[in-house]
Amino acid sequence: MTALLKDKLIVVTGGASGIGRGIALAAARHGARAVVIADLQPDPKEGGATTTSLLEEMGTIARFCRVDVTSRADMDALVADTLDLGGVDVMVCNAGIALPRDGCDISEEDFHQLLRVNLDGVLFSAQAAAAQMRSLGKQGSIVMTGSMGGIRGAAVTVGYSTTKGGVCLMAASLADALGPDGIRVNAVCPGLIDTSLINASPGVAKAAQGLVDRMPLRRLGQPSEVGDAVAWLGSDCSSFVTGVSLAVDGGLTAII
Ligand SMILES: NC(=O)c1ccc[n+]([C@@H]2O[C@H](COP(=O)([O-])OP(=O)(O)OC[C@H]3O[C@@H](n4cnc5c(N)ncnc54)[C@H](O)[C@@H]3O)[C@@H](O)[C@H]2O)c1
Repeated sequence: MTALLKDKLIVVTGGASGIGRGIALAAARHGARAVVIADLQPDPKEGGATTTSLLEEMGTIARFCRVDVTSRADMDALVADTLDLGGVDVMVCNAGIALPRDGCDISEEDFHQLLRVNLDGVLFSAQAAAAQMRSLGKQGSIVMTGSMGGIRGAAVTVGYSTTKGGVCLMAASLADALGPDGIRVNAVCPGLIDTSLINASPGVAKAAQGLVDRMPLRRLGQPSEVGDAVAWLGSDCSSFVTGVSLAVDGGLTAII
């Protein structure tokens, strides 16, 4: 436990499962006062206890809000609902999807679904948080989950990489727009992290194993390791850091 996030309220979209769950639990380990899980469903894809029950066991105020990040109204309502807890200090725009039939021949429907969740969803989450931070005069932090796939392209992630590259530039652009209000915006770009998304398609799983064999740290990352990076970006210890895309990838993008 550290006090990196002492007194802060953190919202994590997609916090029921995978990396978002790791981010939420890391926030509690780093002393967050309250964590709001915003997801389509409360139960983790991995099974086991819900993120909110684990957070409560750790002594953190925990709340679950059912949202669809592709709905601007849902995201505005989510942020408004945090006012009784003091409002959002750190918004983690993490919910995202990969699709099995990605690639050169991705269908229009699949491409637009990726755009809706991975870009509309991130934008609406950030906009809702930024509007509240501005109105409350909070010098908050917004952290977006990009991807190594947003730094390097791949034949099996044509649609996904397009959206994640967009997330990195959205973070940079919003950092410029919100910096004068003291609001920081950064992205974390996970490499291969041990979650269900890695197995979204046989192509991705096969490509993942080939990359693990080459990457400097020679292993998959854990959601908690992304969580620690997000905790730092959310904290005042990164107070002069904005507009960056931080690879959390065992060194993979350094060598490919
Ligand atoms: N797993 C990896 O190796 C990896 C690598 C790089 C980036 N990422 C990114 O990390 C983020 C989390 O991925 P993950 O691996 O934890 O996936 P996951 O599928 O385990 O978890 C994603 C969560 O987001 C929720 N979600 C999906 N669509 C939603 C919507 N429309 N509204 C609200 N919630 C929604 C799901 O219910 C789920 O709980 C994504 O943005 C993903 O692109 C993952």
